Amino acid sequence: MKKLAILGATGLVGQRFVQLLSGHPFFEISVLAASDNSSGKKYGQAVHWHLETPVLDKVKEMVVRDCRSDFEADYVLSALPSDVAGPIEEELASAGYIVFSNAANHRLDQNVPIVVPEINLDHLNLIQSQQTKGKIITNPNCSTTGLVMALKPIMDRFGLEEIKVVTMQAVSGAGYPGVASLDIVDNIIPYIKNEEEKIVNESKKILGKLKEGYIDPASFSLEAQCNRVPVVDGHLLSVFVKTSERVALDKVIKAFEDFAPLGGHKLPAAPERPVIYWPDMEAPQPRLHRNSGGGMSVSIGRLVKVAEKQIRFVALVHNTIRGAAGCALLNAEAYDLLMG
Ligand SMILES: NC(=O)c1ccc[n+]([C@@H]2O[C@H](COP(=O)([O-])OP(=O)(O)OC[C@H]3O[C@@H](n4cnc5c(N)ncnc54)[C@H](OP(=O)(O)O)[C@@H]3O)[C@@H](O)[C@H]2O)c1
Repeated sequence: MKKLAILGATGLVGQRFVQLLSGHPFFEISVLAASDNSSGKKYGQAVHWHLETPVLDKVKEMVVRDCRSDFEADYVLSALPSDVAGPIEEELASAGYIVFSNAANHRLDQNVPIVVPEINLDHLNLIQSQQTKGKIITNPNCSTTGLVMALKPIMDRFGLEEIKVVTMQAVSGAGYPGVASLDIVDNIIPYIKNEEEKIVNESKKILGKLKEGYIDPASFSLEAQCNRVPVVDGHLLSVFVKTSERVALDKVIKAFEDFAPLGGHKLPAAPERPVIYWPDMEAPQPRLHRNSGGGMSVSIGRLVKVAEKQIRFVALVHNTIRGAAGCALLNAEAYDLLMG
């Protein structure tokens, strides 16, 4: 078994890591780390557990520690907030650890890949240009993950010219305790700090091409507007796409349904169908569809042809699973298989 350290283990994404790693075939948790408030406490006491499944007793008994770099671990999964993640992850990479990060700090660094394995597994090779003994590999921001998984099958079949996206993002996307209930109950907040820029820059990088030591970003235009809505989990995106070639809806649906590329590799965290098309008029909905494929599939519906080269649809992504912990775990599995 390979040993994994989880940083930010008491937070919402950290809890998902703990949940997803329960019973993993070749990874086991060796370290749970968080802030000084939690350090020294048993995990069961330090964590404000939010998930439906209980924590295993042996994990509850583990003592939470700080994030300094003397872990007994093969890989580090980071769910640290961006105001502290940057230097901690750099120090760990310098010390020789392979860090899989959910934080925004290094995503746009020239030699750091943002990986969604079904889309751009080849971008993993970018880590060869990192000069440190260890490496940093990131996964995208949660709404970006849903968007790029929906766009990639369309891009490969029809090309992309122009995308507009409006997001309706769940409260768990802001971590715990996140948005105050008095701000979000009976309300929608039409602003999420830095989110619109992240969607634009990260999507173009992920859907760009790997060159010698950098990623040449995709050239389509992309505009995003983000809203926080009173949903617990699951970001819903309304997406408007202008393609390079004429579209036919049956071919778009087929492109979604055929989309399963992992170079034939079978990874434990990978869903059978990364993108699921729902023909029902009222799908997808956060409460009904966010756990599709164990929370690792992106659900798509409301597909409409607007013009010869224009479509619109709705996409749903589970923000703490596919949009965070699940994607980082899939990256760790892919790295372990190909480079570990
Ligand atoms: N939530 C999502 O849907 C989502 C999706 C994609 C990416 N992300 C990213 O994932 C990361 C974690 O998000 P989250 O939602 O899990 O946040 P969260 O619920 O606020 O959890 C933050 C975690 O970091 C720990 N922490 C805080 N300050 C620390 C410090 N100075 N040193 C060490 N540990 C510290 C906390 O420990 P204590 O409990 O001890 O305070 C807690 O374990 C963020 O970078 C976020 O942007 C989140």
